[in-house]
Order: sequence, then structure tokens, then C-alpha cells
Amino acid sequence: MKIVALLGSPRPEGNTAVLARSFLNACQSQGAAVETHFLNKMSYRGCQACMSCKTKTEACILEDDMTPVYEAIRQADIVVLVSPVYFGDLSGQLKTAFDRFYAYLDPNFASRLPAGKQGVFILTQGSPKEEEYNDIFGRYAGFLQWLNFQQCHLIRACGLMGPGEVKDRPEALQQAVDVAQAVMARP
Ligand SMILES: Cc1cc2nc3c(=O)[nH]c(=O)nc-3n(C[C@H](O)[C@H](O)[C@H](O)COP(=O)(O)O)c2cc1C
Repeated sequence: MKIVALLGSPRPEGNTAVLARSFLNACQSQGAAVETHFLNKMSYRGCQACMSCKTKTEACILEDDMTPVYEAIRQADIVVLVSPVYFGDLSGQLKTAFDRFYAYLDPNFASRLPAGKQGVFILTQGSPKEEEYNDIFGRYAGFLQWLNFQQCHLIRACGLMGPGEVKDRPEALQQAVDVAQAVMARP
């Protein structure tokens, strides 16, 4: 299994990074090959709406740190999107990368990606209220479905403010391991 993870928090040891590590380590221990991209350290622009990918080219014409990520995602079996909740949505770092997925849609707005990928979202938020921001996963999973993803999973923890607080939340860390087992069990 090939796994590509995009980490969208600026905190290298933040809550989402800790959960991502639990998930990815569990996958690696079952034989997965993992490639991680720490978006905050990368240089890339948002989609420029130039429409080249709809009119002239098969791929995004921007050349920046997203360029190798496009091919890595194309080849991956599992794509892991990791983000703190910022103002009720993904962090800017991850949203900017997600907008660039527009280039995976062809001129007919059908996906250029091969079918069958699994998506995993890892989301944490400061608010302890689970009913708050629980729309994020469904909205973005819907876009991945459009891009031909077969199934999406969610690892989520609420009520986490300080960096790494999630280390004291065994049930959240266990959730990461459980989802790892579920995605790795698929053919
Ligand atoms: C700019 C910013 C915006 C935030 N917006 C929200 C929010 O809308 N709702 C919420 O519950 N928490 C919000 N938070 C808190 C983070 O989601 C929370 O601390 C998260 O666990 C951080 O994950 P990390 O340590 O991986 O960065 C915000 C934090 C920052 C810095």
C-alpha cells in the first residue's frame, strides 16, 4: 500500500501531527510505504483559475512544491489529509493544496485519477462540542468521491487547544490505530 499524507497544521508536534503519526506508524508496521508532506514548510500557490487544466494541459501548469505531490497522490492507494479546524474549516495550508486538486478534473469535470483510492481525514478542534464543525468531513469527502475516491474515513478529536494535548487522549490515539487497521485491511 502506498500512502501519501498532507499535514496542514503549522505545528510540527501539534495534535493533528501526533494523530497522523499514530495512524501512519500503524500503517507502516503493517507494511505500507508512507510519504509525508509538511505543507507549512512548502512553497506553493493557490489555484490561479487559469483553466489550463481544462483547456490546454492534462496537468496543472504551475511549477512549485505541489508538482511532485500531484504524481504522488495519483500513485497512492491511501491519501491522508490532516488539519486543525481553523474558523470552521480546513487550515489555509490544506485548503490551498485542496484547491489545486482542481487539476485532477478533466474538461468534462470527470476525474483524471484512477478509481479505488481511500481517503483519510484527521481533524482536531479546540471546541469540545462534537456537533460543531462536524460538516467538514462530509463536505470534503464528497469532493474526494467526485475525484473517484472509493471510501473516506475520519479520525477526529475535539476539545484540544495546546500543541500535543492529544497525547493524553488514549481514545483518540486508539481511533487512529483502528482506522489504520480498517484501511490496511482493504484489498
Ligand atoms: C487560526 C486558528 C483558528 C482556529 N479556529 C478554530 C475554530 O474555528 N474552531 C475550533 O474549535 N478551534 C479552532 N482553533 C483551534 C484548533 O483547531 C485546535 O487548537 C487544534 O487542536 C490545533 O491542532 P494542531 O495542534 O494540530 O495545530 C483555531 C486555532 C487557530 C490557531
